[in-house]
Amino acid sequence: MELFKVTFGLIVIASLSATLSSANPGFNIGWGSHGGRSFSLFPEFYQFSCPQANDIVMSVLERAIANEPRIAASLLRVHFHDCFVQGCDASVLLDDSATIVGEKNSGPNKNSLRGFEVIDEIKAKLEEVCPQTVSCADILALVAHGSIVLSGGPYWEVPLGRRDSKTASLNASNTNIPPPNSTLQNLVTSFNRQGLDEVDLVALSGGHTIGLARCVSFKQRLYNQNGNNQPDQTLDKGYYNNLKSVCPRSGGDNNTSPLDFASPAKFDNAYFKHILWGKGLLNSDEVLFTGSAGTTMQLVKIYAEDEGLFFIQFAKSMVKMGNISPLTGFNGEVRKNCRRIN
Ligand code: HEM
Repeated sequence: MELFKVTFGLIVIASLSATLSSANPGFNIGWGSHGGRSFSLFPEFYQFSCPQANDIVMSVLERAIANEPRIAASLLRVHFHDCFVQGCDASVLLDDSATIVGEKNSGPNKNSLRGFEVIDEIKAKLEEVCPQTVSCADILALVAHGSIVLSGGPYWEVPLGRRDSKTASLNASNTNIPPPNSTLQNLVTSFNRQGLDEVDLVALSGGHTIGLARCVSFKQRLYNQNGNNQPDQTLDKGYYNNLKSVCPRSGGDNNTSPLDFASPAKFDNAYFKHILWGKGLLNSDEVLFTGSAGTTMQLVKIYAEDEGLFFIQFAKSMVKMGNISPLTGFNGEVRKNCRRIN
């Protein structure tokens, strides 16, 4: 009887939730939401208010990626840098203004984060078709997903319903996004603070199977890993020699090298194979294997052997990252222009 009551209750709440959300997308009974104050995200959020949303995102994205394959990587990274700073709320997209100090000039973002024009183009198209409906934070989540799919990676249902912040945090951007010379312990701590565990850390680091890094992001490993003017001993010798030609001891800071040298525009598990061979580009990549936590080392091996497992976990961890403290319900706003608050 008790079980019947509970089950019946759950069915009622679920159907109530569905009714409410179809009558008014944006309102959903919260299940396991953050801090008990927010509503849950769900994939059908724009089903009635802007059914074309994902098609618009994908059509702009297809052209942008055909024009420059790297843009897929750049856009995936924007979503990560958004979610790690006051949650996935598009704070990263705000330009500096009289009232806002944006995040674009933080250490991790300055001269590095890119792809903002693609987001502008998508937002402009969406505003024509469904004015002030699709948030910039959701655009970032859809764009990250679309970029991975178009680069050959896994498909998943993207939970939606985030709203946009009216604030940004330069300080949190500087402190929450881990630097490339992080130790494994720093990385684990940084991800834990966002509610992400070691499995998420390793799977999401697999995002480095696409895209490029600047010389300044890995120079320390080539010339002065431990303050003793010696290279990182875990680097493969041949790879080290190649990297030195792209990244000289002085100058060349903006020269770039692929994070996955074999297939920098293809979303695959080559990134993990390279790590096994001492060919991870960033210190933060290589320490997943050489750092002293057994779990991350095992996971690198598993994903290097089985691309399917990597894809499944990557998708799960992307959903988890995309769920970091979203603004929902009446919190925040839906910006008209992703670069400024309304
Ligand atoms: C684990 C901690 C991480 C660190 C320390 C880190 C650090 C970096 C650095 C230093 C770069 C190169 C930036 C430059 O030189 O301009 C980079 C690029 C990139 N990162 Fe990460 N990252 C991390 C996690 C992630 C995650 C979780 C994702 C996405 C799921 C991601 C996606 C990317 C992508 C796609 C690029 C290439 C961007 C481009 O080509 O424009 N990273 N990362």
